[in-house]
Amino acid sequence: MTKNIEDYYAPWVKGIPMYVSEHIELAWRKPELHRMMSNENPLPPSDKVLEAMFKYAKMTNRYPDQGLVVRQKIAELNNVDGPQNVMIGNGSSEVYDNIFRMFITPGDEVIQHTPCFGIYGLRGTLLGAKMVSVPMIYKDNLLKFDHEGLMKAITDKTKIIVIPNPNNPSGNYMDPEHFIPFAETGIPLIVDEAYVEYAGLGKSQVQLTKKYKNVLITRTLSKAYGLAGMRFGYTIGHEDVIKQIAGSLLPWNVGTIPMWAALAAFEDQEGLAERVKFNNDAVDYISESLSVIPGFHVMPSKANYILFDCGETGKTGKEVLEYAETKGIILRGESKKYGSDGWFRVTIGSKEENELFVNTVLEFFGVKK
Ligand SMILES: Cc1ncc(COP(=O)(O)O)c(C=O)c1O
Repeated sequence: MTKNIEDYYAPWVKGIPMYVSEHIELAWRKPELHRMMSNENPLPPSDKVLEAMFKYAKMTNRYPDQGLVVRQKIAELNNVDGPQNVMIGNGSSEVYDNIFRMFITPGDEVIQHTPCFGIYGLRGTLLGAKMVSVPMIYKDNLLKFDHEGLMKAITDKTKIIVIPNPNNPSGNYMDPEHFIPFAETGIPLIVDEAYVEYAGLGKSQVQLTKKYKNVLITRTLSKAYGLAGMRFGYTIGHEDVIKQIAGSLLPWNVGTIPMWAALAAFEDQEGLAERVKFNNDAVDYISESLSVIPGFHVMPSKANYILFDCGETGKTGKEVLEYAETKGIILRGESKKYGSDGWFRVTIGSKEENELFVNTVLEFFGVKK
């Protein structure tokens, strides 16, 4: 008897849906809305980056090469030996796919620190991994890294430990000394530094890759560099490990335009500094403006988003989101956690959008400026 198509799927992929971000779909359908929900950069690409895009667009009749020039530039910026320490991808999400593929077999465990970015769970599950979620600690109205909890979660089946630094959505960093014990375990440790440029590369753990073969750093141009729609990410690690992981790359995974525009972005450090300053000033402005609301907790952020818990005000995050929607603002909802349903997150927008957001939230809570 013939079997059904369903009987042929790998058991652990059955029912996994396509990833569709409803709020991003909405924002593209209705460009008049204020997209303050997806950790994008409100500033458009610099002229230098645009010039590179146009220049290389004219050469897209040709296949791209393996990106040695941009990989060399990344190596220089991060003080590692050379392109052999760098693998590039179509956004850091793809880089996660490549890394996970090279380690995970069904039944392996991946440790993540929640709440955190969703791609680890999405790719881990697709490969049949068991996601082990260790919650951050919520204390003194702050979300804190639980390095001891993460360490306790390690078992014989642990294949990967992933630590976003700073974390999304909490926006804070783990103390640097707490990375060493994880590096010492020999278990693949991935430090996701998607937002590190907002605080500067001095906050990076990249130097660990020189001492520990099992440490990989991931980065993206989607955030501080402001090129989310271009799709460019990378990982830095020991050359032997990069060589092995690169075995999973699809040929020509990074197109000619993103590859050379990325180089232009790395060379335009002035453009980056401008974006970082704009963002960090806006984070201060929003955090200070809203901290006057009684019972409204602002998680200090070193990234381009801020997480709030308004549970103690008696309002829910969902209610804030609904009110903001009436003003054309899309925010990011958060699940109920730590006994509070007051969580929500904002992404930094333009100056006008940030003011509109602040005024909207103050108005919602009935607080005068
Ligand atoms: C912590 C973290 N890592 C990685 C990414 C993915 O970035 P991309 O795939 O655009 O490089 C994001 C995006 O929001 C993120 O928050």
